[in-house]
Amino acid sequence: MKRKVLSALLIAAMTMATVGCGGGQQAADTQAPAETEAPAEDAAPAEDAAANDEAAPTDEAPADSAASGELITVGYAQVGAESDWRTANTESFKSTFTEENGYKLIFDDAQQKQENQIKAIRSFIQQEVDYIVVAPVVETGWETVLEEAKEAGIPVILSDRMMDVSDDTLYEAWVGGNFVKEGETCGDWLATYLEEQGRGEEEINMVTIQGTIGASAQVGRTEGMANKLAEHSNWKMLDMQSGEFTQAKGQEVMESFLKSYDDIDVVICENDNEAFGAIDAIKAAGKTCGPDGDIIVVSFDSVKAAFESMIAGDLNATFECNPLHGPRVAEIIQKLEAGETVDKIQYVDEAYFDTSMDLESILAERAY
Ligand code: AHR
Repeated sequence: MKRKVLSALLIAAMTMATVGCGGGQQAADTQAPAETEAPAEDAAPAEDAAANDEAAPTDEAPADSAASGELITVGYAQVGAESDWRTANTESFKSTFTEENGYKLIFDDAQQKQENQIKAIRSFIQQEVDYIVVAPVVETGWETVLEEAKEAGIPVILSDRMMDVSDDTLYEAWVGGNFVKEGETCGDWLATYLEEQGRGEEEINMVTIQGTIGASAQVGRTEGMANKLAEHSNWKMLDMQSGEFTQAKGQEVMESFLKSYDDIDVVICENDNEAFGAIDAIKAAGKTCGPDGDIIVVSFDSVKAAFESMIAGDLNATFECNPLHGPRVAEIIQKLEAGETVDKIQYVDEAYFDTSMDLESILAERAY
């Protein structure tokens, strides 16, 4: 594995300078990754945080590597292109890991298939990349290929979703959102909203359009919401089915829910794109949704199109999952290059947004 020892000291100094320059009152996700193993504090309403979620590109340290003529080769095993969130995540990596910034990026789109990601990781090992970054499709089944990377001496960094491995020395660090907390924030928001509507004691029928089964984002959000369900005996989960994090599947699942149940009060969509599909299905069935409609629709991610949907009166609320991990992973790599230790688990703070807020203003500043 190539090491950039000569530039390490300068890189370390520049990295520290960049971290030190971070704006104190920026939204959490404009900051450097949270360097703590503790989960982030309770999700703040968006108005408590700056609206723009763009993490500052790390145009600092890598430039030194470029100047020295040695590019750091990074293989990124991406999940796919299933959602607006994923597109923003890919763009974050592509705009960060540029030659100008001192990197050569080998990007692989696994089309939501774990076997494709395993093949991509093996190909990165063969190509002797300096670092492997994985956003794993699902949590389990990674030990063998991570052992192979370890054997080859290539550090692995996890981003976005987690892996469930018995030996955590198989990866250097993970950076992403706290999915359980996102689900719990959603449940708390719903309780407050129903209370405000005078429906706090009413029997509430819910359905969930889950994400890809076995993906951290699905596992965590389902668990977080289940924790809140347990606190409300009048909430009933009628059904849960996977919408694979896509709009088309979200629509299909909602169509089938609407055929099976005529009394749905709330639909929880485990990402925004599924919600867009669900909203189409609700309208096609002659029902209405949103703050003035028959069905409350909530989702996760907080992409720009979700703001447009809330402004249009279709979506009630969206719970943020920040996709701008490119600069965060670059910072981890620069620290490793400098011989520094990095925190194993790095949660990113996230907010939520609903129709009581000044969504037009927030959208105008939104990075994704
Ligand atoms: O892992 C993050 C999730 O994956 C996002 O919520 C979703 O949009 C994406 O597909």
